[in-house]
Amino acid sequence: MQRINWNFITNPVTQKHEIITETDWYVSFPLNCNINELKTWAKSVQRLSSGTKFTSGEYENALWWGTKCHPALKKRLRQICPLRVIDSSSNDKKWNTYIWEMPTGGKLNKHSDIQGKGTTFVIVLEGKFKMITYHSKFPDQQLDSYVINPGEIFVLKCGDKQFHSGECLTNYRLAIGVYTNHSTDPFRDHSEHFVPWWSQTIRKIIH
Ligand SMILES: [Fe+2]
Repeated sequence: MQRINWNFITNPVTQKHEIITETDWYVSFPLNCNINELKTWAKSVQRLSSGTKFTSGEYENALWWGTKCHPALKKRLRQICPLRVIDSSSNDKKWNTYIWEMPTGGKLNKHSDIQGKGTTFVIVLEGKFKMITYHSKFPDQQLDSYVINPGEIFVLKCGDKQFHSGECLTNYRLAIGVYTNHSTDPFRDHSEHFVPWWSQTIRKIIH
């Protein structure tokens, strides 16, 4: 018997949402956008320059391109929460969207995210990617993992505190990363405005 988990969450800020799956460390939403259109767009951004290598030590062999969010994706993500506002006078806020490419697959090394920024929505366009989470007090201890497939919007909860790593399960990965607005981010408990995303889950299981 095939069981489909179909969750709906009511959040005081963002109303009702369809989700694919959720635990205490992540939530995954359906993309509900044309993935082929996003792929075509991402590749057009990539053709504009040769891309930049990650220097943060998180990836060994990956490239990124900064850009503005695709309008259809922006509309979709804003149904979940506000996105980071682009400020052209700030080098750090020049973009709110990144195209990420792992041209030969590989690993995302264990890290916790930089504090003081919003969460990143991760949208895998091509390839399968396994995200792994670790115990907050014992970061050597792996707790759980989740495979992100194309067509999902994946979000880590409190990735600025919780260590995580990743592994590309295919030999190529193309993804989009979009920053949320820091002060209204419902996925990190850093703000006085914080309204936890996971506070009001209503689960409905369809057989
Ligand atoms: Fe991260």
